[in-house]
This record gives sequence, C-alpha cells and structure tokens, in this order.
Amino acid sequence: MKSCFVFGTRPEVIKTAPVYLYFKNLGEEVILIATAQHREMMDMMIKVFNIKPDYDLDVMTQNQSLNMIVSRVMERIEPILMKERPDIVFVQGDTTTALSACLAAFHLSIPVAHIEAGLRSGDLYDPFPEELNRRLIDVSCRYLFAPTKRAKENLLREGLDENRIFIVGNTVIDALELIRKKINMVSLRKELIDSDYYILMTLHRRENIGEKMRSILRATADFAQKNDIRVVFPVHKNPNVRQIVDEEVGKNPNFILIEPVDYLHFLSLLDGAKFVVTDSGGVQEEAPSFNKFVVVARQTTERPELIEAGLGILAGTSKETVYEAINEANRKNLNSIENPFGDGKSSERIYKIIRGDIA
Ligand code: UD1
Ligand code: UDP
Repeated sequence: MKSCFVFGTRPEVIKTAPVYLYFKNLGEEVILIATAQHREMMDMMIKVFNIKPDYDLDVMTQNQSLNMIVSRVMERIEPILMKERPDIVFVQGDTTTALSACLAAFHLSIPVAHIEAGLRSGDLYDPFPEELNRRLIDVSCRYLFAPTKRAKENLLREGLDENRIFIVGNTVIDALELIRKKINMVSLRKELIDSDYYILMTLHRRENIGEKMRSILRATADFAQKNDIRVVFPVHKNPNVRQIVDEEVGKNPNFILIEPVDYLHFLSLLDGAKFVVTDSGGVQEEAPSFNKFVVVARQTTERPELIEAGLGILAGTSKETVYEAINEANRKNLNSIENPFGDGKSSERIYKIIRGDIA
C-alpha cells in the first residue's frame, strides 16, 4: 500500500503529521507532498515534527489569490501523482491546498481520504472559502474521517454514504499529545515573554479582515486596559492582517505582538494563558486540553461542540459582543475537562481502517 499525504499550511502540517508518522513508523510506504501554500509557517512546523517532504511545490506568492493557489497546486501536483500512483491520497481540513489536491487525485481516479471531514458552519460564505472547500472535498472522497458524532451527522444529512464515514476524533489532539510530553512549558514560555497574566490571541480569517478584525482588536484592547492584563498575540504572516494589527494595536503597551511561533512555543503560550480570543479553528480544539476557555471571534462556528460543552462563547465580531464575551471568559475557571474533539488516538484508528481495506 502506497499512501500519499498532502499539506501546505500551518494547521495542515500539525494535523497531518501524526497520521503520516504513524504510517511511516509502522514501515508503510509513504509519500509526502508539501504545496508550501504557507512558505515560512509550513517550514516552521515541519521542523517541529522532524519530517521531510518528498516533493515541495513551492506555490506561495505574496498576497496570493485563491484561484492562483488552485491553479499552481493542480498544475504542479499532477505529474507527481501520475508518476507515484499512490493507492490513496490524504488531505486534511478545508484549505485551498486540500481542495486542489483532492480534485487533482479525483481527476486521476486515485481514492482520497479526508482527515477532519464533516465540519459545517451552514453558511457558504463564512468561513470563506473554507465552507465550500470542505463540502466539495467531502462529496468526492472515498474515506471521510469525521472528528465527532456531529460531523458524521452533517455528512449523513448531505446524503453521503454511511459506509464511507468513520468517527475517529481530531488528529490535532494526537499532535498536541505527541509534543506536550516532550516539552517544558515554563522554560519555553520564558523564551518569549516575561508576563504570566495574559490573554492569548490569534486572528487571521479572510472574512474577518477589515472592520470586523478592527472591532475585535478594539474590544480586546479596551478590556486589557481596564483590567491591566497583557495580550500575547503571535501575528499571522498575512500582510493584510499585519496592517490592521499594526494600525489598531501596534503601539498599544498592553499588547505583546510577536512573530508566529512554532508549535512547541505556541502550546507553552496556551498553557500559560488566562483564556483565549481567536478566530482559529485548531486553537479552539486545543484549548480544552489546557483547560482554557475560548472566545470565538466569529459569526458562525463549525465547532459547536466547544460551545455546547460550555468551553467557549461564539462572540460575533462587533466590539460590544466581543467585549461582553471577554468579560464572561474572564470570570470562568475551568477545571480538568474532557476534550470533546479527540483523545489522541485518531491516527491509530485511521491506520486500522485504511489497512483493513487496502492490501
Ligand atoms: C489559509 C487557509 C485557512 C487556514 C489558514 C491557516 C485557505 C483558503 N485558507 O489562510 O483555511 O485557516 O491558512 O493559517 O486555504 N504568508 C506568508 N508566509 C507564510 C504564510 C502566509 O507570507 O508562511 C502570507 C502571504 O502573503 C500569503 C498570505 O499570507 O499570500 C495569505 O496566505 P493564504 O494561505 O492565502 O491564506 P491564509 O489566510 O493564511
Ligand atoms: N499555531 C502555532 N503558532 C502560532 C499560532 C498558531 O503553532 O503562532 C498553531 C495552533 O496551535 C493551531 C494551529 O497553529 O494548531 C492553528 O493554525 P491557524 O489558526 O493558522 O489555522 P486554522 O486552525 O484556523 O485553520
């Protein structure tokens, strides 16, 4: 059995690496294709997991358009898939890399497995373009690895064949458990910041770029000033995000703005935070493993499990609602909780399902 794994962005590396390593460590034939949709942030993560792509498509350009990523990935991946002819191609999540690789494999009649299938916000434009990407990927896959029961129900509701759907948990928990064992949180954190009373923040979603992002930042800045708390914010490499962050809080003494950090350091920041304000998907899934409450700075969510378990608030994106949600988060004190997204054994489940099917 020859398995091909494709990733291109930071979260895809984090969520694909444990599965790839599980297959590889059992002596399976594996091929790793990196699209490099994220040049620096992908490379940073590859180092953490100590993996080396067999192919690097090097597609990233500054301020790339979605169509540009699709065309570059599809054009560059086709000859590799034709040459390698894997038995299966794994894609993860809902990025343009995942959609393009899935479509390229489908065109060559190679079965595709989707890690993190079935997430739905219900709004085609939020998150944009991810909600469309994940729907298109799911409809064309042979294996749908749903992280939760809810994700499986979403797929069934769309009429997808139950025999293709498997609930396996989210592989991000495999990743964090793999890394967490190996690191000293306090000393990693001290390499970055000297504060131990802070909110951890990340923002990057395309649909938030503009006034919504400004409102989220203003609400957080107001709260930080009134409560004398720092905001530690590793700022995404997207220049459009950077411009807004710089204009809104670039000179704000409560904000500790840093470059994106590798996964080890990010987990150490999560571990030390009072709570989290984010529009990230992965961070919402990780925070419960560190007993941290999440203010989800978005209009919709494809991770309602977090909200239903009382581990986060869907805050919207207006200054008032975000401020309100931060206030509520500040009053929460989570004790040891079960993570609704996974138990760290997703890679093993995926392996057994695939191995049982493909000789
Ligand atoms: C992408 C994914 C999104 C995911 C996010 C994770 C799509 C459509 N979106 O969004 O689902 O949540 O990654 O972070 O696939 N840049 C760099 N260096 C890097 C990374 C990015 O300079 O290492 C800059 C480039 O100018 C690039 C821009 O950021 O053009 C945007 O990157 P892109 O991958 O297009 O979109 P993201 O918003 O990062
Ligand atoms: N992350 C990281 N360093 C950072 C910011 C985030 O390692 O500076 C990790 C984080 O732990 C999570 C993932 O990146 O696993 C989330 O990536 P992002 O928010 O970019 O994408 P999303 O999950 O929204 O697709």
